[in-house]
Amino acid sequence: MQFIVAIDGPAAAGKGTVARAVAAEFGFAHLDTGLLYRAVGAKAMMRGRGVIVAEIATEIAQGLTEDDLTREGLRTARVAQAASKVAALPAVRAALLDFQKAFAKREGGAVLDGRDIGTVICPEAEVKLYVTASDEVRAERRYQELKAKKPETKLETVRIDLQQRDIRDASRDVAPMRAPDDALLLDTSELSIDAAVAEAVALVTKRFEKA
Ligand code: CDP
Repeated sequence: MQFIVAIDGPAAAGKGTVARAVAAEFGFAHLDTGLLYRAVGAKAMMRGRGVIVAEIATEIAQGLTEDDLTREGLRTARVAQAASKVAALPAVRAALLDFQKAFAKREGGAVLDGRDIGTVICPEAEVKLYVTASDEVRAERRYQELKAKKPETKLETVRIDLQQRDIRDASRDVAPMRAPDDALLLDTSELSIDAAVAEAVALVTKRFEKA
């Protein structure tokens, strides 16, 4: 059985939480595609001594391994910025395409979350969700997450990081972040995590019964 749940949305909107919960509920595999770009960005910054060089980033994307995805430090704001920069490079996206498509088509169902899942990676997905939240709520959520690991984190810096990435991700030429036309919009600004997850699970259940 193949069944694909595509979850997209801007930074820190709650995609990951919803994706993990849906995957657990239905026993589907889950891929956080942001991690692929974070892994490429982190390695490219290291190899380029703080500068992203397109050829180096492409080479890294082409040779990305499982180990690269489990490295420490991929969740920092610095790596998020690097991820967003390499994610705008067409050759980097092309190098990561087959892996994501194959993951989506695995037997037993899959949930993928990112920016272009419903539009580019899996336009045929059975369920498409676009998870959003207000700028304030997203900044506050990410601030709390980052502060837990790095107490000196500043809310204003987090806000700027999210804003810069949203603009870059939405305005790039290749696979820009946007809601698929046939996606259900899930605004989590005023929803608890449980309520957001319940809405997503209800939608998947409805489509799943029909499949
Ligand atoms: O967790 P957060 O929403 O902040 O970011 P993420 O999902 O880990 O993604 C990090 C960056 O990777 C994003 O800002 C995008 O530039 C890029 N990305 C992408 O272009 N396409 C995807 N499918 C997933 C992430």
